[in-house]
Amino acid sequence: MRTKVAIIGGGPAGLLLSHILDLHQVGSIVLERRSRAYVLRRIRAGVLEPHSVRLLRDTGLGERMDRDGQEHDGSAVVWGDNQRLLVDTRRFTGQPMMTYGQTALTEDLYAARDRAGSQIIDEADKVQLHDLLSDRPFVTYEKDGATQRIACDFVAGCDGQHGVSRESIPPSVRRTYERSYPFGWLGVMALAQPLPDITYANHARGFALASRRSATLSRYYVQCDPDTKPENWPDDLFWQELKARFPADVAARITIGQVVEKSITPLRSFVAEPMRYGRLFLAGDAAHIVPPTGAKGLNLAISDVFYLSRALSRFYSTARSDYLESYPAMALRRVWNAVRLSWWLTNLLHRFPHDTPFDQRMRETELGYLAGSTHAQASLAEQYAGLPFEP
Ligand code: APR
Ligand code: PHB
Repeated sequence: MRTKVAIIGGGPAGLLLSHILDLHQVGSIVLERRSRAYVLRRIRAGVLEPHSVRLLRDTGLGERMDRDGQEHDGSAVVWGDNQRLLVDTRRFTGQPMMTYGQTALTEDLYAARDRAGSQIIDEADKVQLHDLLSDRPFVTYEKDGATQRIACDFVAGCDGQHGVSRESIPPSVRRTYERSYPFGWLGVMALAQPLPDITYANHARGFALASRRSATLSRYYVQCDPDTKPENWPDDLFWQELKARFPADVAARITIGQVVEKSITPLRSFVAEPMRYGRLFLAGDAAHIVPPTGAKGLNLAISDVFYLSRALSRFYSTARSDYLESYPAMALRRVWNAVRLSWWLTNLLHRFPHDTPFDQRMRETELGYLAGSTHAQASLAEQYAGLPFEP
């Protein structure tokens, strides 16, 4: 087999890259380790920045998102004695945010790829990347017991946190930066009417978050021990703990419903540099992980794909490689800003095991400053809505 771009990973990054390249007549093959059913069962974040929304609309992926997603003006933060701050992205950036689940977006992407007749090879085992420093790289994998080979011009490593692409960059070239946090998030999806606003809570019992997927589907999280298991959290305990972490009037408006999914996410910040090695380009979780606070993970995968698809399509239409050369630095500027925001929000909103009363006073003082300063709110809203893509 031969293709222009071999894309490793059929998550949002890999599928969106394949979709946009196709719009520019650049062919690709996607290799995914799991079955399609498995990929479509994964539940992840669900908040899209205006830049992500625009890119999805501009590339013909907006129809169901515009019908089923919910635009909202901003998100609320509550703490202390019922104090409240609205991160008003509409007021400060002129644009709304959108709640739309990553699971739904992944379905839309598979549907679009199927309509275009594109090649997505699932259950591709033992993917390996070869000759990345030559201009004739190739990829091998096993499918149904037979070894297959794809010759290509470029490899796009979109295979997430545990993929093979990042590991194909020699350790002598790779630099990694990491912070792990001493807690996780227990996430619950419930058939219940959500709160009107996405609401983040800083509480003595730990962080909590109320979000949504639709008018009848709520998404909730509570900060938990990183080693706990969903089985340790029967539904009753979860609802009780969730409500205990919000001010009484907010808790009173939380509707309890049937729990349809429960899972634990560890919290971690991680960046691997550079995002390029010869003919290999990394995008999305393959290169960086952010803690979910602020919902930047999916949006970063989308902005990486915007830069990488632009660079590759320019290369094929004009033979210019300037955007390919600048891809790692350009993508990483946006990545580091989002890493910083999600690290800062994580520190601001959670309780840490060895916190002193001083640490918590600092958080409350910062939250109070945010609530009282339009300058501080404008800065937070600008970052929460996401920095613009560079020209
Ligand atoms: N070979 C082929 N495919 C692989 C391999 C491999 N060796 N390793 C992993 N994969 C696949 C995974 O099964 C997964 O479907 O790569 C895909 C990567 O998808 P994601 O993990 O969803 O990563 P990405 O597409 O970058 O999307 C980022 O995911 O974790 C969230 O917060 C993150 O929302 C963000 C989004
Ligand atoms: C979600 O809806 O899953 C969500 C919302 C906001 C966040 C993180 C996750 O900051």
